[in-house]
Amino acid sequence: MTDGRCVRSSVIASQHELHAEYDGVVPEIAGRAHAERILPVVQAALRESGLGLDDLSAIAVAHRPGLIGSLLVGVGAAKSLAWTLGLPLVAVDHVHAHLYAGLLGDGTSAGVAAEVFPAVGLVVSGGHTSLYLLQSPTQLTLLGATIDDAVGEAYDKVASMLGLPFPGGPEVDRLAQAGDPASVALPISSLGRDSLDFSFSGLKTAVKYAAFGVPRVARRKARTGNGEDPAPPPPLDGCRVADLCAGFQAAAVETLVVKLTRALDLNRGCRTILVGGGVSANSLLRSRLGALAAGRGVRLLLPAMGVCLDNAAMIAGYGHAVLEARGWRGDALWLCASPSTQHLAGAPA
Ligand code: KG4
Ligand code: ZN
Repeated sequence: MTDGRCVRSSVIASQHELHAEYDGVVPEIAGRAHAERILPVVQAALRESGLGLDDLSAIAVAHRPGLIGSLLVGVGAAKSLAWTLGLPLVAVDHVHAHLYAGLLGDGTSAGVAAEVFPAVGLVVSGGHTSLYLLQSPTQLTLLGATIDDAVGEAYDKVASMLGLPFPGGPEVDRLAQAGDPASVALPISSLGRDSLDFSFSGLKTAVKYAAFGVPRVARRKARTGNGEDPAPPPPLDGCRVADLCAGFQAAAVETLVVKLTRALDLNRGCRTILVGGGVSANSLLRSRLGALAAGRGVRLLLPAMGVCLDNAAMIAGYGHAVLEARGWRGDALWLCASPSTQHLAGAPA
């Protein structure tokens, strides 16, 4: 990474295949895989950038939040490199860094970046769903967050209950294209008129009931107006799975759009919507946010598809911004570890 924006190389060692049989990330497996892969990833990132260790001028690492074993491997490696090479080390928050992904690349020259703020930031990942007010890339105020599941986690759990492979988000997104969202009535959580928090656990349960029927203990609450038990669900064939994916996706995305709209209403001076995290790759979310931004006359900065999911480029870029905010002047950064979950990533200067 040069100048906090130009990505020289970006290497991701995905661990999906190691966790797929468990339908979720297993912390011990993730930590061990990090330990095994970190040096090859560092070497590959340097090789692809055409640079050597001596060309680096700083090192950034994600130090929170996440699985402790994975973070320890990354932070240990980053500290060792920084100390050996005599370089500054900057530790950054993985969730904050997701919002920097939309500032990477050609679309955002330094001039454009200056016009971005103040901004409302939406992080939608497997572990977090949060809204921020940003005065600069590094000055963030938390406006709201999920009180239960993250939206990506809800995607993964719905996929798992429908028998789809892990990670479920991309698969649900794909199948939803063929489904009819109107054929399944699902709730959109609001949590009160003024809340900027999110909740996805009720939606997840509603998909479960729509797919497999309402369990006996919950039937009284679900009875129809004339006191009858809810009708049994249609057979769970391919068409029904697609309809459930479409219905879930429509409700989940609507929940995000409702809260983002509320945040813009409450922070009227904001010029930009910044979005980051794995779910920012979602096709419906991207198009709904495009329409929302156009309707409100604000800029929308979505990450390029290659930097929606966990990656080291956003850590390096954000680390550069943190160092710059502290008065540091350098032109390059190198990151050695990112992940809170299933990837390990490296991106040299
Ligand atoms: O940001 P990320 O790579 O990891 C965390 O920090 O958690 O996000 C991973 C999440 C997973 O839950 C995955 O299912 C979801 O992003 N995801 C998607 C899509 N692509 C990835 N969710 C919905 N639609 C997608 N196209
Ligand atoms: Zn992430």
